[in-house]
Amino acid sequence: MKIRSHCHSLLLITSALLLAACGGANAPQGDAAHGKELYAQCAGCHELSKNMAGPKHCGLMGRAAGSVSDYAYSEAMLDSGIVWNEKTLDEFLIAPIAYVNGTRMGFAGLTNPTDRADLIAYLREATSDPAICSPD
Ligand code: HEC
Repeated sequence: MKIRSHCHSLLLITSALLLAACGGANAPQGDAAHGKELYAQCAGCHELSKNMAGPKHCGLMGRAAGSVSDYAYSEAMLDSGIVWNEKTLDEFLIAPIAYVNGTRMGFAGLTNPTDRADLIAYLREATSDPAICSPD
């Protein structure tokens, strides 16, 4: 826990410096470059453009949970009624199993709000990037 909290402070300082360096009127809320590093925690089960153990993430923003047609979701995910956006992803990623009771996504969650914002910033960019996500 000691090491983690040191890292945490370093991250906060880094984020503050980045904000100072890049913060303009249209500055995104999260640091997508850091989010890309965090996506390594998802990549054991997810790829952007194809289904793995988990569904592909391309086109995630604005689509209903459980809507990748060739992926077999749990009933819990299919019945969740969620539409994925910044807010629902943030709530889900704190503790997926609590947010979608019965989900098959075996991931404990990301407790650090800055990490979630950074990861969501990355997902927002990458899942709509035509170089990665060809229209299907
Ligand atoms: C251990 C494997 C595993 C890991 C790690 C994992 N996931 Fe998942 N994920 C799944 C599975 C399996 C599902 C489908 C769940 C269901 O049907 O209940 C899923 C579903 C999802 C969904 C819903 C997608 C949809 O089409 O409705 C999102 C969003 C998601 N994961 C994001 C993430 C993110 C972001 C991370 C990394 C922080 C992550 N997952 C880490 C296995 C994983």
